[in-house]
Amino acid sequence: MKSVGHLVVLSSLCCVISGYSDRDRVRDLMSKYPLIDGHNDLALQLRKLHNNRLSQIDLHNVSNVATDINRLQAGHVQTQMFAVYVMCWAQEKDAVRLALEQIDVVRRMCTEYQDFELVTSTQEIKHSEMNRKIACLISLEGGHSIDSSLPALRMFYQLGVRSMALTHTCNTPWAESSSKLYNVYQRQNNSLTHFGKAVVEEMNRLGMIVDLSHTSWETAWAALKHSRAPVIFSHSSSFSICNHERNVPDWLLQELKKKQGLIMVNLHSKFISCRDEANISHVADHFDHIKEVIGAASIGVGGDYEGAVSFPQGLEDVSKYPALILELLQRNWTESELADVLRRNFLRVFEEVERVRDQLKSTGPSEVQISVEEVQNPCRLVLRPPDTTGHSDRSGSSRARQEPKGLLMLSIGLLLSSLHMIQ
Ligand SMILES: *[C@@H]1O[C@H](CO)[C@@H](O)[C@H](O)[C@H]1NC(C)=O
Ligand SMILES: *[C@@H]1O[C@H](CO)[C@@H](O)[C@H](O)[C@H]1NC(C)=O
Ligand SMILES: *[C@@H]1O[C@H](CO)[C@@H](O)[C@H](O)[C@H]1NC(C)=O
Ligand SMILES: *[C@@H]1O[C@H](CO)[C@@H](O)[C@H](O)[C@H]1NC(C)=O
Ligand SMILES: [Zn+2]
Repeated sequence: MKSVGHLVVLSSLCCVISGYSDRDRVRDLMSKYPLIDGHNDLALQLRKLHNNRLSQIDLHNVSNVATDINRLQAGHVQTQMFAVYVMCWAQEKDAVRLALEQIDVVRRMCTEYQDFELVTSTQEIKHSEMNRKIACLISLEGGHSIDSSLPALRMFYQLGVRSMALTHTCNTPWAESSSKLYNVYQRQNNSLTHFGKAVVEEMNRLGMIVDLSHTSWETAWAALKHSRAPVIFSHSSSFSICNHERNVPDWLLQELKKKQGLIMVNLHSKFISCRDEANISHVADHFDHIKEVIGAASIGVGGDYEGAVSFPQGLEDVSKYPALILELLQRNWTESELADVLRRNFLRVFEEVERVRDQLKSTGPSEVQISVEEVQNPCRLVLRPPDTTGHSDRSGSSRARQEPKGLLMLSIGLLLSSLHMIQ
């Protein structure tokens, strides 16, 4: 320990003498280990601000957002998980279509611009880094977008989705949200149902990362226990430092570490300081605390830019990541720990997810289906096998149990839509 301390003192002395500043160290470190960021909602802003009309903007320089190619490059962001997010009030309506449209816009963005490259594997991430491209990974934010269907999940995988958050701010028929915003699919002591477990198993089989940001702690725990592969929190911070429901308590961090998983720290001020304002010191406190509890090998960064409204002073947009790394360096994080946080931890986790997928190669696609009673969705058309009992249903199909719930949901949705609660 002592000799390491001496080395640190020595090396900082050298730096002062040679004029090699901490800023230079950060630049060199981030050039060698450019950031893999766990969460960005640019696609949501493209819809809200531009109705997904990519032809009308230049992604190098986009106003009214915190993310564009110029700033990603300035921030040494090499891989970005782009969230495909659909509002919860679409759950019983057109969430699947909206999610497809958001995948389309991310795919367009990442194939029409030379600076981007759409990737689907760790191999491709490494390759794109060598080619000096910004790799785009697609993550589906919210299990409501698969409409309780494993075939739909598989088709999302085919389109390039490599990570899915089990919930957003609403419960799904099979998993529970950390948020109590929506009064849907309430249940007790069943935070991950039989079908929910089948979703996790199918994600393991496909090689899709299980993301527990936004789930209730109970669901997170159940999914973590059930998953064969490591899991992540793509954009959550420490509950001990800021007791927001979106953050992760120490006991759950311990479980995450046992599973070799990863927490990618969210920078949104509300989750950092529990207030609307924060600064880099507050953010670094989360990193320090999580490191103290589970070590630097389980930590990453999931900025959540475009998904939230206020970011800490000095971290206003994606070009500012070096300022965070500088703060951690000055808090005596080693370069090796920072290289882990910047990218090696995520690559390790994703590689493990791919390894589990390979192990499961001989397992066929799951045919588990959710029961009609559990989905209770008036929009769901149920195609039945031919009726052999004589009671013919001439249309050969029927709607799921009709309830006035759909309308109620709509009005709750509209009410909440004005509250701007994305995160
Ligand atoms: C980005 O565009 C704005 C106008 O929309 C312009 O003022 C600014 O100079 C541009 N920045 C870069 C780096 O191109
Ligand atoms: C359900 O869970 C709650 C808290 O998690 C617990 O207090 C209660 O005893 C449980 N009930 C049953 C029937 O398991
Ligand atoms: C951040 O704010 C706290 C007060 O909440 C202050 O003590 C600290 O010095 C600030 N840090 C920076 C880097 O401004
Ligand atoms: C970092 O380490 C140096 C040398 O060991 C020490 O003097 C300094 O107080 C430490 N800084 C922090 C923030 O722990
Ligand atoms: Zn989110």
